[in-house]
Amino acid sequence: MIIAFASLKGGAGKSTLSIHLAHAIALAKKRVLLVDADPQSSASSWAAARDSVAPFPVIGLARNTIHRDLPELLEAYDHCVIDTPPRVSAMARSAILAADLVLIPVQPSSYDVWAASETVELIKEAQQFKPAIKAAFVVNRRIGNSAIGKEIDSALADYALPVLKTAIAQRVVFSESSAGYTVMELSPSSAAATEIKNLAKAVLKLMGVSKW
Ligand SMILES: Nc1ncnc2c1ncn2[C@@H]1O[C@H](COP(=O)(O)OP(=O)(O)OP(=O)(O)O)[C@@H](O)[C@H]1O
Ligand SMILES: [Mg+2]
Repeated sequence: MIIAFASLKGGAGKSTLSIHLAHAIALAKKRVLLVDADPQSSASSWAAARDSVAPFPVIGLARNTIHRDLPELLEAYDHCVIDTPPRVSAMARSAILAADLVLIPVQPSSYDVWAASETVELIKEAQQFKPAIKAAFVVNRRIGNSAIGKEIDSALADYALPVLKTAIAQRVVFSESSAGYTVMELSPSSAAATEIKNLAKAVLKLMGVSKW
C-alpha cells in the first residue's frame, strides 16, 4: 500500500504522522519505505538526527516523477509512506498520483478546515487521472474536549471525505519525537503510542484489509 500524507497547510503534521505510521507498519514486521518528497527534508533530517539506524529506511525523493519512479523502488518493500511538501507543486501532485491513499492531517481549527479545500482540490485533480486514489482526513493535535475539537467532524463534513475515527492529540512527546525517535521508542506504553497504533488500524479498516 502507498500512503501519502498531504496538506498544503504548513505544520499540519505530515512529517510527524508519516514517520509514525511508517514505524507502526515496521512494527507489524513489514518492509516499509518512507519517501521524503519534501525539499525541506524533515523526514530525512529526522533519520539523520538519530544515534541508531531508523526502524525503517528513509529516502529523499524530492522530484516531480515520484509516481513514475516508485514502482521500481518499491520492489523490495511491502508498503510505502510518502511525506509531501506544503505547496501546490508538481512534486505534491506526483506524490498524490503515486498513492493508494492520501491522508490529510488537519488541526482542529477553522483555519485548517478552510485551508483543506486547496488540498482536496489537488486530490480531486489527481483522481481524474487515477480514480482509485482514496482520501481521508486525520485530525491531529486535538486538544482535550475543546468545542472545536468536538465540532471538527461536522466542520469537515462538507468535503465529503471520510474523517478517520481515531484522532491524534496534542502531546509533548510528539514534538520531542522530531529529534529523531518515534513516540513508540520514546514512550512505548504511552497514550501517544496507542494513538498511532489506532491510526494504523483505522488505515487498514478504511482500505478494507485486515493486516499490513
Ligand atoms: N500531535 C502533535 N502533538 C504535538 N506536536 C505536534 C503534533 N503533531 C505535530 N507536532 C509538531 O508540530 C510541528 C509541525 O509538525 P510537522 O513538521 O509534522 O508538520 P508538517 O505538516 O510536516 O509541516 P510542513 O508543512 O512544514 O512540512 C512540529 O514541530 C511537530 O513536532
Ligand atoms: Mg513536513
